[in-house]
Amino acid sequence: MNKAEIRNNILKKRLSLSPEEIKNKSHKIFLNLVKTPEFLNSSDIMFYVSTKSEVQTEEMIKSSIMMGKNIFVPIILSDSINLVPSRLIDFDRELAKGKKGIFEPKEEYRRLFPAKDLDLIILPGVAFDTEGNRIGRGLGYYDNFLKGVNPSTNTIALAFEIQIVEKIPTNEKDVPVNKIITEKRIINSSEYRVYYEQRDTKHRGK
Ligand SMILES: Nc1ncnc2c1ncn2[C@@H]1O[C@H](COP(=O)(O)OP(=O)(O)O)[C@@H](O)[C@H]1O
Ligand SMILES: [Mg+2]
Repeated sequence: MNKAEIRNNILKKRLSLSPEEIKNKSHKIFLNLVKTPEFLNSSDIMFYVSTKSEVQTEEMIKSSIMMGKNIFVPIILSDSINLVPSRLIDFDRELAKGKKGIFEPKEEYRRLFPAKDLDLIILPGVAFDTEGNRIGRGLGYYDNFLKGVNPSTNTIALAFEIQIVEKIPTNEKDVPVNKIITEKRIINSSEYRVYYEQRDTKHRGK
């Protein structure tokens, strides 16, 4: 299957989850996230603001702010494919629906922050494989964003288990994530990548 086929397939599956299932699974994912050293050791964290069928981040963002973390959410600047982090202080007051139907900080609450100073980026996606390869909405926003961040910045994607597929076809612009957290497990994708790389090198050597 190509990217577009996988994207459609998984989007359809995700749309069949009830609001109740989405809420419960998202809460489990949050409990898994707060256990990770990446989350515990980070003070400057970017979260996406979830749309209806994505893993929900409202509870995560509000709790993280209460824990004293500095939380940033992405703004799409004009008609570009550039995401820029903006500091969020009050979830209920500061957000409004942006052009693409995604909630972003209103003009008066924009506090831009350099992406390279983030400790951790929490990102959404449509489909993933265990190596951390990712299919997004098909516009390459996060690929473009991740190519500009510090290599020491951690990346964690949040997904429901039904969004994990066997293999994602990739191109040179796709940037994989370090970890994927579902309601069932924490997938250390960077370790999977090292494992497969070593295995494949060994096979080629024979
Ligand atoms: N860093 C980038 N700069 C410019 N265009 C990009 C970048 N990364 C991806 N794209 C383009 O965005 C489009 C969608 O990429 P794709 O990986 O299919 O989407 P997604 O990652 O959202 O699933 C492609 O035409 C791709 O070439
Ligand atoms: Mg991509």
